[in-house]
Amino acid sequence: MGLTSYRLASAALAALAGSAVAELSVTIGSSNNVLTGPVDGRVVLIFAPKDTDPLDDIDVTSSPNKMYGKNVAAFGPSDTVTLAGGDVNGTATGVYGWPLVSLDEVEPGTYNVQAFLSPYDTATRADGSQVRLKFPCGDGAPNVNGVGSLKTTTVEVDVTGSDQTITLAFDDIEPPSTSSGSEIGSCYQGNYEDTELLKFVKIRSEKLSAFWGRDMYVGANVLLPKGYDADDKSVRYPVIYAQDHWDADSGAFGYPNSAAFTSAWDNGIIPGTNGNPDRPTPKLIMIKFRHESPFYDDSYAVNTANIGPYGDAINEELIPHLDSLFNTIAEPYARIQEGGSTGGWVSAASLIFRPDLFGACFSYYPDSLDFHRHQDIQLYTNANAYVNADGSAIPSIQTHDSAGNQQILATVAQENHWELVFGTASRSFLQWDVWNSVFGVQGLNGYPLEPWDKVTGEIYPESVEYWKSFDLANYITTNWAGAKNLGEALKDRIHISVGTWDNYFLNEGVVEFQSRVDALGGEGWANVTILANRTHGGLYERRETWNYIELLDKWISDHAPDGPTPLAPAATSPSTRGNVFADVIANGGRGAALARQADPVVTVKQAKVKCGASVSGTLGRWDPGVKLTAQWLVDGEPSGAAFAVAQGQTVRFAPTTAPTSDFEVQLAVTGVKRNYVDETRVSEAAVVQAARRR
Ligand SMILES: *[C@@H]1O[C@H](CO)[C@@H](O)[C@H](O)[C@H]1NC(C)=O
Ligand SMILES: *[C@@H]1O[C@H](CO)[C@@H](O)[C@H](O)[C@H]1NC(C)=O
Ligand SMILES: *[C@@H]1O[C@H](CO)[C@@H](O)[C@H](O)[C@H]1NC(C)=O
Repeated sequence: MGLTSYRLASAALAALAGSAVAELSVTIGSSNNVLTGPVDGRVVLIFAPKDTDPLDDIDVTSSPNKMYGKNVAAFGPSDTVTLAGGDVNGTATGVYGWPLVSLDEVEPGTYNVQAFLSPYDTATRADGSQVRLKFPCGDGAPNVNGVGSLKTTTVEVDVTGSDQTITLAFDDIEPPSTSSGSEIGSCYQGNYEDTELLKFVKIRSEKLSAFWGRDMYVGANVLLPKGYDADDKSVRYPVIYAQDHWDADSGAFGYPNSAAFTSAWDNGIIPGTNGNPDRPTPKLIMIKFRHESPFYDDSYAVNTANIGPYGDAINEELIPHLDSLFNTIAEPYARIQEGGSTGGWVSAASLIFRPDLFGACFSYYPDSLDFHRHQDIQLYTNANAYVNADGSAIPSIQTHDSAGNQQILATVAQENHWELVFGTASRSFLQWDVWNSVFGVQGLNGYPLEPWDKVTGEIYPESVEYWKSFDLANYITTNWAGAKNLGEALKDRIHISVGTWDNYFLNEGVVEFQSRVDALGGEGWANVTILANRTHGGLYERRETWNYIELLDKWISDHAPDGPTPLAPAATSPSTRGNVFADVIANGGRGAALARQADPVVTVKQAKVKCGASVSGTLGRWDPGVKLTAQWLVDGEPSGAAFAVAQGQTVRFAPTTAPTSDFEVQLAVTGVKRNYVDETRVSEAAVVQAARRR
């Protein structure tokens, strides 16, 4: 059973017991000049167990906290914000809590209470839309206490169970992270001190800066092989692009934090084990990227309508810059994309969208490659993302004990409700929300057009339809032949591994992907390894680190021009390129959102109205998920009661008595959707001539 039902049940029980609900409210002001002017942002208020740091554990699977969120607008130095109550319908402007929706549900007891305010900047995108977002600052975009967030001192509070107001003040600001390396602008992407083999590069991206209307940066952590000589341009190295989350100052494969890997890499010698001799480390350059974004700790490294041209920034600006700084082999066969989980999707997508740049991907337990299963959600066919047709709750996080018994740690509903505390309109900086921003188009409200209602889970199929260009199986199969010719181009270049006990059910999307591409390309078109009873973690095929890196190195030498199976020129032709930003924005940006809209229209079928249905109206076009109410207007005044209508319906106006004089009819339609401003659109007037008696 979903959490929502549980909440309704407990509320109903409280009502039956006749217990008066005590009102708990929290009023927060500011002090210490932490605010210099009005800000918009998200307040997160946390009730943690006595004697614990409220941020110790905010995870959906384990947090003991009661957490509440509320948006503020133009919150100034002398303003206060009050959090009280909370319900599922007022999430855009009111309070919404997890795991208890309302503050009134907090049980009496002693708590450590702290509040945070993540300030939003107003960004005006190149396409003219304005959005309020928190831009991260070299900290990988944490979801509560990012750099620049305001915070209150933690106070111990007795919640009495009677009406009560708690007063807090934002009195401190989360300071910038230290980044002692050479800075070239804002704190964005940080920058760290170079070491002998690990170099930190950061550039201002022209394309991202143009898109966001502010300076935007992308960074790279470049691990060089032992013996690398910057001046010897004749010795050049293949590159492994190791895709991952924000990893601050770490290089690929845990350098320099993993002691065993680091000592082998630094010495250039892999110590032999089990009596085998030592062997040299493969001579490669390994690159990780820093691309924290205003929606997540990374951007997914593709061009998207909500996060912007990160695919171009990384692949067309940063990589050429790195090729100019370091002695790389800038050829597809010598460039491998690899990574797990988010990095699994990013590495696969980077190859699939840009076969002309990269040679192969080795992607492990990737985020869904095929949205027939988005984790465990049957996204294309289910009516709801939280419950299946048979009423079963859809799980999101699982674990197995050694006997193979499955334990569900969170459902999709729980995880989405938890995310909603930290941000509305897909701004929580958490997993389901960033998928909305990567895979979805921009909504008319400027934020990601969400595929389902965050509270109820109701799926909007028209929103999901837009995800198809990021459904990698769909993308490959629809571009199988023709200009991109991906059936030929990508054959034998995609390598994927995943375990059947993946903690996030990501094996399901892999199986769907495999079945769709292999249906066209024959068994093994994509090299997919399903590992029995393996969970989310480890490297590709759960290989040992050096064994894996040597596999990548071998792929490169096998596919080199002088190797046994060189990459065919046609496979890396520029015509194979996809995910073109101009197309992404044309399909999913502001212009596309506006083009989706239309006003209601009234049509008078026969000019002379007697009694009956001669006047009809269409409701106009609205974003998916907008709920509509219609109202007929006669000569500008409401006629009859407003009534609920479904999008796409045709409505009829039927005067109950024959009108005696000519009149004008209009149809007013009001649309309401979570995180959208309520909007009423009125049709042009249509003139109806009264039937005249002979
Ligand atoms: C939320 O809105 C729905 C639809 O209007 C309504 O049925 C429900 O009772 C509301 N819930 C609350 C808690 O107000
Ligand atoms: C996987 O786990 C199941 C259930 O514990 C067990 O029956 C099966 O033998 C395991 N398979 C492998 C390959 O370990
Ligand atoms: C799939 O890739 C693995 C390496 O991960 C390799 O050992 C295997 O031969 C490949 N399978 C096919 C059919 O090419």
